[in-house]
Amino acid sequence: MCTEITEIVAIDGPAGAGKSSVGRCAAQRLGFAFLDTGAMYRAATWWAIHNSADLDDPEALADVTARMPLDMTDEDGTLRIRAGEHDITSAIRTPEITRQIYKLDHVPGVRAHLVELQRAFGARKPTVAEGRDMGTVVFPKAKWKIYLDASVEERVRRRATQLAANGAEVDTAALKREIEERDHKNMTRAVSPLRRASDARLLDTSNLTFDEVVGAIVNIVQEEA
Ligand code: DC
Repeated sequence: MCTEITEIVAIDGPAGAGKSSVGRCAAQRLGFAFLDTGAMYRAATWWAIHNSADLDDPEALADVTARMPLDMTDEDGTLRIRAGEHDITSAIRTPEITRQIYKLDHVPGVRAHLVELQRAFGARKPTVAEGRDMGTVVFPKAKWKIYLDASVEERVRRRATQLAANGAEVDTAALKREIEERDHKNMTRAVSPLRRASDARLLDTSNLTFDEVVGAIVNIVQEEA
C-alpha cells in the first residue's frame, strides 16, 4: 500500500533542474537508495521500440511494458539499466528515445505498471526518488517533498555545459526550444502532469552550486528526520 511508504525524499521538477545528479549525491550522503524514475520511462520506451510495439496503441504499450524484464543496479556510482540481456544504460539517453517517450508517458497502463515498481522499490528501504509525479502520485505520503526548479536559461546553460564536456556541438537556441517544449508537455498532459505538490518545498537552484543544492536537500531531511 502506497500510504505506508513514508521514508521517501520525493523530488520533482522540470527537465534539467538537476534532479538526478543532486538526488543521487544526496541519497549517498543520507545512506538512502536512489530511484531515477525517468530512466524507467526511458527504458520502457526503448523496450517498446525494440519489440516493435505500435507506439500509437495504448493497450499494446501497456502490455509490452508489463513484460519488460527491467533491472536497475548501482554499479560503482553508475546506474546500470538492463532489459533482459541488453545493457541499455546509454541507449535510453539518446535524443530519439527522449522524443518518443511522449508516446508512452501519458498511457495509464504504462504508468500504472511503472508506479507499482516504484512503490515496491520505495517500500524496501529509505529512498530518494526523483521524477515528475513523486510527491503528487507515487509517494503522496512521502515524509519529505522537494520541488526542484531553475530558470529555463540556467537549465539551458547547464545542459549546454554537459553536452560540450562530452564533445557535442551545442545549439543553445535549439536546446532552449527543446527544454521549453518538454516543460510544456510534462506540465499539460492529462495523466500525472508535472506540478508542485501543495506540501512540497520549492528549491530554486538557479543561483546555487551543485554542492549547495545537495546540502539543502540533506539539511531538509536531517532537520525533519
Ligand atoms: O527525467 P528524465 O528526462 O530522464 O525523464 C524522461 C521522461 O520521462 C520525461 O520526458 C518525463 C517522463 N517522466 C514521467 O513522465 N514521470 C516520471 N516520474 C519521470 C519521468
